[in-house]
Amino acid sequence: MNDEVKCAKPECDRFTAINELARRRGFFWPSFEIYGGSGGFVTYGPLGTRLKQNIEAKLRELFVKKIGIYEMESSVIAPGKVFEASGHVDHFKEPMVECQNCRGRFRADHLLEEKADISSAEAEKMSLTEIKEEIERHGILCPDCGGKFGELQRFLTMFETTIGPYSGAVGYGRPEAAQNIFVEFNRLYTVARERLPFGVIQIGHALRNEISPRQGLIRLREFTIADLEFFFDPQEPCCHLLKEVENEVLPILLCETRLKECEDTTDLTVREALDRKIIRSEWQVFFMAMAKKLLIELGVPAEKQRFIEKLTWEKAHYSSQSFDQEVLVDRWGWIEVSGHAYRTDYDLSCHMKASGVDMSVYKEYANPVEKEELVVKPIMAKLGPVYKNEASKVAALLAKVPVQEVADAMQKQGYFMVENYEIKTDQVDISRQKTIVRGTRFIPHVVEPSFGSDRLFYVALEYAYGIKDNRVVMSFPRSIAPVQVGVYPLMSKDGLDTKASEVQRLLANEGFMVEFDETGSIGRRYARADEAGVQLGITIDYETLSDDTVTIRDRDSWQQVRCAIKDLPKQLHKYFEGKVNFEQLGSIIKS
Ligand code: ATP
Ligand code: GLY
Repeated sequence: MNDEVKCAKPECDRFTAINELARRRGFFWPSFEIYGGSGGFVTYGPLGTRLKQNIEAKLRELFVKKIGIYEMESSVIAPGKVFEASGHVDHFKEPMVECQNCRGRFRADHLLEEKADISSAEAEKMSLTEIKEEIERHGILCPDCGGKFGELQRFLTMFETTIGPYSGAVGYGRPEAAQNIFVEFNRLYTVARERLPFGVIQIGHALRNEISPRQGLIRLREFTIADLEFFFDPQEPCCHLLKEVENEVLPILLCETRLKECEDTTDLTVREALDRKIIRSEWQVFFMAMAKKLLIELGVPAEKQRFIEKLTWEKAHYSSQSFDQEVLVDRWGWIEVSGHAYRTDYDLSCHMKASGVDMSVYKEYANPVEKEELVVKPIMAKLGPVYKNEASKVAALLAKVPVQEVADAMQKQGYFMVENYEIKTDQVDISRQKTIVRGTRFIPHVVEPSFGSDRLFYVALEYAYGIKDNRVVMSFPRSIAPVQVGVYPLMSKDGLDTKASEVQRLLANEGFMVEFDETGSIGRRYARADEAGVQLGITIDYETLSDDTVTIRDRDSWQQVRCAIKDLPKQLHKYFEGKVNFEQLGSIIKS
């Protein structure tokens, strides 16, 4: 947000201004407009698609390229069993009320927040009866028609479908991309050469059947999520990259502060957050620091960001500790852009139990340890005559029982019942044996940063939005500008247009995102480009024809420099890589 520039239309807030600009310039708009629209779905136009791709490229640069996180892509629909096992079928629900008059349905906790100043944290703690009582106590009526509300229910916000033409084959649209990663863990672990720690990110669509989405890009029914699952050994929880972020300051709204109904954040360095045991996992705090960096690179200053520690009853069912990264926006105040959860071994354990597939990993000890173990061995010479051809089955059944149980029963009652077979003391040999144990099996722990691309996109727009001389200028950071260079012939004649096309081809072949615009006055073209966030404008004029130089114009300062065409590729590469600033692109002709 460019604070130094005033809003051109003081009567409208940035949310309205951005939505209007987005429609007009083709960043995004509500989908299915010709059929009256359908809440919670958006279409990204050419500029928006590129901006969103650039934001997702940042995620890849930060996590996949720089840290070596693997990336994967899997399906949006999953068989019911996946989300039954993960706990989502039971937990992915929101409180909903229905208007008895117009049948409109609303998120009950959101109504309490908007109309009764009851925070979502407080509402999340309440039972349905308590929420209903509060709605009645505050006389909250249907925002659409003023009607009275009926009974409340918890609405499952996953989209349910059937897989194929079989009504029994229930499937769900994934509300998070994380579960694909968990169910594929064994294969991914093999790819990671059976070594921990390692992480996997999936950036793809998620579906949530939100009850009443009315916040544009912030609350969609289909959106892009980037879930990063980082697997590590809980006995070796150290993050080897911590040094890189150790002194990064994280402003955190702590649980203890929230419980005092105070909104003050505590500034803690990464190191302090760990030393004071405010954040339990080194990997979790590392990813929080990375998330802060990401938002700065998207144009959101550090002072407009904070982390909020989730209270026990606000955390997702799988999380042992959660923090949300929030950004301050004009209309909605603080909004969540990413969630950071310590998911422990919850998900892998659930899938292991439900599928029967072992998802534990083996760890060899550095030094094998000698252990004395209680061992129960069936004496086949004694079992054989008694159980005849069932003797092997009895021995196999016995092998599945915890040895201590057998030993205790033998000592106490002189026999042990396994199914209907009575095994007597003289039919088994119980002894203590020394064995060398070379390793152990365990289920890896997981920390998860989870980003919503569409919210990142929205905050990037809001912080790029500024007004200069009564015109909108979208000052995106240069690394995410949807168009890097605009090429403009001063006139569409006298060979200027041909020369401009040559420059456009030259730059496009160099890999720059280039746009050609020859219609309207040069002033109008600059204005259009500023609104679209085009980083640099290159103008081909009559001087170009004589000395092969062009004017380069900076979107934000409106400064101009003159540069030789032959130097453009090299200079522009350096500029977009952040190695030189605008003034170093050529000789200044207008500042
Ligand atoms: P909220 O409390 O705002 O509903 P959440 O806690 O349910 O969000 P998570 O489940 O942590 O969100 O999802 C991870 C990220 O996905 C969020 O930080 C957000 O950026 C994004 N996200 C979640 N729900 C939506 C949605 N309906 N539309 C757009 N983005 C979303
Ligand atoms: N990751 C969001 C949820 O499953 O609750």
